[in-house]
Amino acid sequence: MPFPCGADGDPARRDASPSGARRGRALSLWLCLALVLMPGTQGSSLNCHKTCICASNIVSCSKMNLTTVPTALPLYTAVLDLSFNSIARLRAEWTTVKLLKLHNLLLSHNGMSFLSSEAFAYVGRLRYLDLSSNRLRQLDEFIFEPLRQLEVLLLYNNHISQMDRTAFSGLVSLQKLYLSQNQVSRFPLELVKEKSRPENISLLDVSANRIKVLPFPDLQALPAWIKNGLYFHSNPLVCDCALYSLLAHWHVRKLNSALDFKDDYTCVLPGAQKLTVGVFELNADYMNCSTYAEADEEAYLDQTLVLACDTRHRDMRKSWAAPGNVPVTALSNGSAVVLADGSLRIAPARAEDSGVYTCFAVSEELNETLYVTVRVHNFTLAGAGTRSTPPTPRWWAAWPAWCWCSSTCT
Ligand SMILES: *[C@@H]1O[C@H](CO)[C@@H](O)[C@H](O)[C@H]1NC(C)=O
Ligand SMILES: *[C@@H]1O[C@H](CO)[C@@H](O)[C@H](O)[C@H]1NC(C)=O
Ligand SMILES: *[C@@H]1O[C@H](CO)[C@@H](O)[C@H](O)[C@H]1NC(C)=O
Ligand SMILES: *[C@@H]1O[C@H](CO)[C@@H](O)[C@H](O)[C@H]1NC(C)=O
Ligand SMILES: *[C@@H]1O[C@H](CO)[C@@H](O)[C@H](O)[C@H]1NC(C)=O
Ligand SMILES: *[C@@H]1O[C@H](CO)[C@@H](O)[C@H](O)[C@H]1NC(C)=O
Repeated sequence: MPFPCGADGDPARRDASPSGARRGRALSLWLCLALVLMPGTQGSSLNCHKTCICASNIVSCSKMNLTTVPTALPLYTAVLDLSFNSIARLRAEWTTVKLLKLHNLLLSHNGMSFLSSEAFAYVGRLRYLDLSSNRLRQLDEFIFEPLRQLEVLLLYNNHISQMDRTAFSGLVSLQKLYLSQNQVSRFPLELVKEKSRPENISLLDVSANRIKVLPFPDLQALPAWIKNGLYFHSNPLVCDCALYSLLAHWHVRKLNSALDFKDDYTCVLPGAQKLTVGVFELNADYMNCSTYAEADEEAYLDQTLVLACDTRHRDMRKSWAAPGNVPVTALSNGSAVVLADGSLRIAPARAEDSGVYTCFAVSEELNETLYVTVRVHNFTLAGAGTRSTPPTPRWWAAWPAWCWCSSTCT
């Protein structure tokens, strides 16, 4: 019910009233005044002179003690900055019209603890959403579902401990998700695993959370351009050789996630003391993990081999050289061809195809040279049973057969 400010604001009527009623009216008048004078009251409409700065399509209302989002936002708003206010709840009705031009929404530093399940229903064109440094505790099912164009989502420095498995569904355009400094204990594999992941996800930061175990085989199977941006340091991970091997491998590959935060990868040793140690010190000082080694890519006669060029960046131009540094394009017999995604197909495999293949990948920012050693057995798989070849151990079979180094390699 709205306060009857107009009626009670008339001094003549107030004087004529009995004292009890007068006190009541004086109180409601006071409430009215408080509501009118307090900046950022319920439903105050956008004021481009007092509470916000409107610079054509940018509406900046940062640090204005707002407790709600101003109403009557112009339809042309492309950037809305509401950071450093006191908007504790983002309700469904914060905007009652579709803001189809809005692509950046900044809501950090608001002490926000509530997100309506329909908070984003009218801002489906958002590309950048900053909800960092708030007090969010959970991410409900399908909470971001309407944001099909969202590329960057900032959720770091909240109190998130519960994330529904469907919380990030619908974010098909997502490229970067910052979840560090929360209380998450489950690694959100759905964000990176093939088939369920957003097509262009290249950064997932779950550092400084409460993750104890990681899905190692799934992580190791990811392409390097995802691992490169997969940050999970400063978690209470349990020390074991799988963790050591994974990070040692990522470090050899010069992946940013392992290089840039090398000293922040710690783990907790099994045992009563719960000693925290550096993951990279594990092998030398605490455990006997087998050192990381690459295996050969193996095939039998007449099989088809596909060698991936697993680069750290996604969009690179790739070319290949066969053993002896023969450019693949110069091979006259066409047994090896470079596929559209940059991998090399060798078919049918011959014993003579064995050797070291080289992938040259170039882009504006990075050049990489990768090597893969191929071994083709001089017999068919059907004939393999009659020969005594030791099977490749499963553990090593899981590692792709690469030797990595940077463009400085000779
Ligand atoms: C916001 O509130 C604080 C504390 O009450 C005050 O010092 C500050 O001037 C206010 N800012 C604005 C823009 O009203
Ligand atoms: C992924 O990136 C490519 C290249 O930038 C772009 O063409 C494509 O539309 C993006 N996919 C999605 C789902 O955003
Ligand atoms: C590691 O293994 C080597 C040889 O297998 C052994 O000599 C050494 O004592 C082991 N170190 C630890 C810390 O277990
Ligand atoms: C493969 O085996 C055939 C006959 O078994 C032999 O003639 C040929 O030299 C072998 N090739 C290589 C590369 O070992
Ligand atoms: C194709 O040519 C290359 C080099 O010219 C040779 O190493 C390879 O064995 C040949 N492959 C076939 C299937 O003839
Ligand atoms: C990569 O190599 C190409 C030519 O091989 C060169 O033009 C380019 O500048 C190099 N890029 C980087 C980042 O080094």
